[in-house]
Amino acid sequence: MTSPFRQRDGELHVESVAATRIAEQFGTPTYVYSRAYFENRYRRLLDAFGDRPPAIRYAVKANSNLAVLDLFARLGSGFDIVSGGELERVLQAGGDPARIVFSGVGKTGEELDFALKLPIECFNVESEAEFDRLIEHAGRLGRTAPISIRVNPDIDANTHPYISTGLKENKFGVPVGLALRLYRRAHVTPELEITGIDCHIGSQIADLKPLMDALETLLSMVDTLAAEAIEIRHIDLGGGLGVRYRNEPDFDVEAYAAAIRKRLADRPLQLMLEPGRFLVANGGILLTRVEYLKPASAPEQRNFAIVDAAMNDLIRPTLYQAWHDVERVADASDATETRWDLVGPICESGDFLCRDRPLRLAAGDLLCVRSAGAYGFAQSSNYNSRNRAAEVLVDGDASYLIRRRETPRDQLALESVLPADPAATRSLPKDAGGR
Ligand code: LLP
Repeated sequence: MTSPFRQRDGELHVESVAATRIAEQFGTPTYVYSRAYFENRYRRLLDAFGDRPPAIRYAVKANSNLAVLDLFARLGSGFDIVSGGELERVLQAGGDPARIVFSGVGKTGEELDFALKLPIECFNVESEAEFDRLIEHAGRLGRTAPISIRVNPDIDANTHPYISTGLKENKFGVPVGLALRLYRRAHVTPELEITGIDCHIGSQIADLKPLMDALETLLSMVDTLAAEAIEIRHIDLGGGLGVRYRNEPDFDVEAYAAAIRKRLADRPLQLMLEPGRFLVANGGILLTRVEYLKPASAPEQRNFAIVDAAMNDLIRPTLYQAWHDVERVADASDATETRWDLVGPICESGDFLCRDRPLRLAAGDLLCVRSAGAYGFAQSSNYNSRNRAAEVLVDGDASYLIRRRETPRDQLALESVLPADPAATRSLPKDAGGR
């Protein structure tokens, strides 16, 4: 589909709504998402597989806003979660527990119990210690835990080291040999029911090869287990499908689907996928306004445009050296083009959204940071006691506030001071400011 973020009549629109109107109504910084984009991406992924549709388990961590989860639940999507918090969100959004897979290396006892009682579709088990704990908790609750073992196939996904997860040096999953041993144990453990096998080798993956190599590893394990009469019902290849941020090609999802279908053709296995970024990244933008221009006054200095969004709102440029396109929302300024560093108000030199970017800027300009629908708001924080941004979802010509901007009161609501301490107060001289 064409982008839902398009310049029309000299200004950027989100579907049919002018971005300037959204900024006037809800302020800045604000994340804005397109409903049509999310739905089209979901359908595109599903359609690519034709009459062998995968069970899509949307990776909640990419964008966990309730309204976004609700949209995917309405489309029939399940969810990949990694915490009790994400589980609460999915339930609140009307997600079906029978379509929830629970990943993550550090599930607490409390989280296991929560999911066991529901019960969810399966636990993607990531270590032998978690495997043992799950047996214990399932036994105590009188439940049978459905499991998949997350395999670490030791495959290089050729992505940023922080988001590469399928190498043996990474903390995720268990090596092939141990996974096979755990399946053999699970087979004779009444508290466990084997449902699937899974992997997730990394995120923002550009080519098919590593994903297909991972599929081969899993398929050969399925065969080894089948020979021992241990049946695997679903095969979960995780997420990882890359998207276009700058000029990289969008992931060829049709080729991916065709290659997987070919390999699964003669097998009764249900394919499962856990996409996050692919579904939402390019369906979101971050609107931000230029507060001040601080041009270089000497040759060794840089030109800074100080905007009202910061690394607490969008940490991807700082954390992964990620590129996000930036453009002016309306083409009104007659300023000449200059290379700007777009920086926020946070007291760190790593606080930037982009660097050395040719832009025509004036103070007060409204800017759009692209590709912010995945791992944008979801990774935001209150650093420097900044209120987290608002989130708006556009549907045709309507825009809905799906998370209001935080207030200082929201931030302070969870904190408290110590009770008054009369002794300490007395020991301080009045002019030292004692209370
Ligand atoms: N499944 C599991 C078990 C995962 O750990 C992840 C992402 C996904 C699925 C979804 O992956 P995706 O389809 O979105 O690539 N904050 C980073 C990305 C971290 C990804 C973590 N795991 C970023 O902004 O690039």
